[in-house]
Amino acid sequence: MVFGIYLRAFRTEDALFINALRRIEAMENKIGGVKRFVSPERELKWVQDIIQGDNPSAVYLAICENGNDGIIGYTSIADIDYRNGSCFWSGIKLAPEKSGKGYGLQTALMILKYVFEELRMVRCIGHALEEHGVAIKLMEKAGFRKEGLMRNYVYKNGEHKNTWLLSILQEEYIQVKQRYELEP
Ligand SMILES: CC(C)(COP(=O)(O)OP(=O)(O)OC[C@H]1O[C@@H](n2cnc3c(N)ncnc32)[C@H](O)[C@@H]1OP(=O)(O)O)[C@@H](O)C(=O)NCCC(=O)NCCS
Repeated sequence: MVFGIYLRAFRTEDALFINALRRIEAMENKIGGVKRFVSPERELKWVQDIIQGDNPSAVYLAICENGNDGIIGYTSIADIDYRNGSCFWSGIKLAPEKSGKGYGLQTALMILKYVFEELRMVRCIGHALEEHGVAIKLMEKAGFRKEGLMRNYVYKNGEHKNTWLLSILQEEYIQVKQRYELEP
């Protein structure tokens, strides 16, 4: 597979982009996280804390198109447990105009490469609202399998919503690499 994007560390100037994404109501409605009102100043502090915090249990990365270092989306890994070799991939947020170009799948494959080939994890989990067919399809294309439906896991937009727990194991990632003919 040829990748049109790459991942890089957050920079201070990414905060405004991240804050703008948060204000897209249609996007917030689809994802599992709680809705929050966040001022640009607070977002800047959050980004700066990530940049300078050295938290070993989380990684936040900006998504950029090849040849352009400007941020078009971001992704993160949390709950990195070095003893048990497990972590939580928190998903992706892409600028709406950059969706539908295959960048979501490419991001997932890059994250899994980092999770299994750098962090030495054996298991990576992810969540998707039951109604978010695009996210479930994307995760399954990247090799995740449904483990179970977490009932009433999220309260959002006046309703309790079910959420799929999905996971991928290291040995399944090896098959994903072969399927997409990824570099060794
Ligand atoms: C969800 C999201 C990450 C998908 O990224 P993307 O780059 O558009 O996805 P891709 O182009 O890699 O497509 C992956 C699959 O989903 C399908 N897909 C993408 N957008 C779709 C849409 N709006 N409707 C239906 N299918 C869609 C693609 O067709 C593709 O499947 P295919 O190859 O069989 O055709 C992106 O739209 C986004 O950031 N959405 C807002 C945040 C969000 O919902 N995040 C949760 C994702 S973990």
